[in-house]
Amino acid sequence: MAHLLLLNGPNLNLLGSREPGTHVACIIFNPAAFTHTSVALRDALLGVKIPFIEVHLSNVHAREAFRHHSYFADVAVGTITGLGAIGYELAVRAAAHLLAQGHSKGKV
Ligand code: DQA
Repeated sequence: MAHLLLLNGPNLNLLGSREPGTHVACIIFNPAAFTHTSVALRDALLGVKIPFIEVHLSNVHAREAFRHHSYFADVAVGTITGLGAIGYELAVRAAAHLLAQGHSKGKV
């Protein structure tokens, strides 16, 4: 069974070291305000080489201009934005679908 990681916070430095026995196949990630500011988190995600789906509750493109840029969108498998909490549910479904198709490490 594949494991998914839903991440709401910058603890990426602990991935792979805290629970090396847990094989996380995919990360579902809402970087919140770090979306628009954090090269450090982008580098951390690229470093762990686990595919991830970026989720935002609000439609960031309908908000202030500074929210239109994401440091994650170009390296994410995909992005879900503006659908509220159901966005997480859709991300889980998408991850399960992609993993069932045989995608694993790296960009899906
Ligand atoms: C957010 C969108 C970000 O722009 C904002 O800074 C958040 C929440 C969202 O889920 O809509 O903290 O990531």
